[in-house]
Amino acid sequence: MIYRQTRWLEPTIFELSRPGAVGVDFPELDEALKKELEEALREVPEDLRRKDLHLPELSELEVVRHFTRLSQMNYSISTGMYPLGSCTMKYNPVMNEDLAYDEKLLNIHPLQPLDTVQGCLEIIWRLEQILVEITGMSRFSLQPAAGAHGEFLGCLIIRAYHMDRGLHYKNIMIVPDSAHGTNPASAAMAGYEVKVVKSDKDGCVDINELEKIVDENVAGIMLTNPNTLGVFEKNIERIVDIIHGVDGLLYYDGANLNALLGKVRPGDMGFDIVHLNLHKTFSTPHGGGGPGSGPVGVIEKLVDYLPSPLVNYDESRGVFYLDYERPKAVGKIKMFYGNFNVLVKAYAYLLRMGSEGLKKTSEASVLASNYLLNKVKRLKGVTLPYAPESPRKHEFVVSLSKLYKETGVSARDVAKRLLDYGFHAPTVYFPLIVDEAFMVEPTESESKKMIDMFYDALSNIIDEAYRDPEKVKTAPHNTSVARIDEVRASHPKTITPSWRVHVARRWP
Ligand SMILES: Cc1ncc(COP(=O)(O)O)c(C=O)c1O
Repeated sequence: MIYRQTRWLEPTIFELSRPGAVGVDFPELDEALKKELEEALREVPEDLRRKDLHLPELSELEVVRHFTRLSQMNYSISTGMYPLGSCTMKYNPVMNEDLAYDEKLLNIHPLQPLDTVQGCLEIIWRLEQILVEITGMSRFSLQPAAGAHGEFLGCLIIRAYHMDRGLHYKNIMIVPDSAHGTNPASAAMAGYEVKVVKSDKDGCVDINELEKIVDENVAGIMLTNPNTLGVFEKNIERIVDIIHGVDGLLYYDGANLNALLGKVRPGDMGFDIVHLNLHKTFSTPHGGGGPGSGPVGVIEKLVDYLPSPLVNYDESRGVFYLDYERPKAVGKIKMFYGNFNVLVKAYAYLLRMGSEGLKKTSEASVLASNYLLNKVKRLKGVTLPYAPESPRKHEFVVSLSKLYKETGVSARDVAKRLLDYGFHAPTVYFPLIVDEAFMVEPTESESKKMIDMFYDALSNIIDEAYRDPEKVKTAPHNTSVARIDEVRASHPKTITPSWRVHVARRWP
């Protein structure tokens, strides 16, 4: 069944233009203004005057239809399922958007006197208290604008902590081979040498391998739990002992917290630093370039290193104030308080959900993922690497390498064909330890009916791969844009001039 058909390419507004068509009636210019404009025009040298504006000419209805059709070509969580593993694209209640864009919150400035923005500081402070409770950390900085930004801050805090204690030689950050690419990148940006630890046959950190590479030079380890395979690190307590045993710190990449909300806290697992992706788990859509929010929480011994200011509450005066008197703070990571509107959405979402609601969220997301996995792993050409009999958390990664060997149809081809069936593609080719990886996260917001429709689409595509592989290999067929040449699209010569300059500067 094709659940949602996308449109054919819409002509540009210039192609639609009909000379003489008019969409707006301007009032006659009043004489005084006309004179003023003519005088102003005389000041502009002849050769700098525009002879023709090249504006498209259309009726109002044509303009309305054109832009409405363009808006319909967008795919979003409001139009369909978004099974993008590792990205938690779930429904973000519109009510929270409404609250975040309340005029009283919009028309303020971060440089206003503090006594005029007490309500906003209170939102920040209260949100921090809830995040502390959810994660088991002591305090949070809400400044970072994304998960990767939070990771970078976390690595700076790890460095500041070790430096402060004179442990300058601690220059190694351990990252599992299943990690999101931002983890090693953030560690490297913060000056660390990255050592990769392999996964074992169950998809967890291989403890023997970890023991082999850990020594006193290790500053810390960056882990996401459940990891990117959707598998819970069952040896987490052992990992904590190993890393703490050499005075290292454990960093929790909270991008996958959707699976554990209200169930288990990173702080109780033994993690020292946490970042959360408010723009995944707490009511802001992920992707599309932001704004996002990746707050960083730390245990008590690391609070001094959080960036300034922290928002504090003075009980005796009953006021919220900014604490800048923090000499060990790693410095500022973002202007003012972070992306305030995203913080408001997260706060509204958390208040609405309450602790019971959060528990139900993670339960539903794990149930949805396992329900779908149990159907998908039985499809021809699909295998489930790493502990094939174990359940997963909120997402799963199957391999389509058998399908590829038998039909020549790759994970990329299947993802592209899903677009024809009206679904957003899942994450493919990540994590890197799975051949022809196909990573699905249905999330708690999808109904059983929608998940079944996704399964039917996938099952049809796999049938097509065996019957008529060319059809899948050349997909998508009914989207506005056919398959783009990915190599050409990312080649410096084919990208826009400003990017070309940027690329040329970096790779002369
Ligand atoms: C596991 C994991 N860690 C970190 C990140 C980075 O988050 P962001 O995209 O907000 O920088 C992602 C993003 O998708 C992720 O999936």
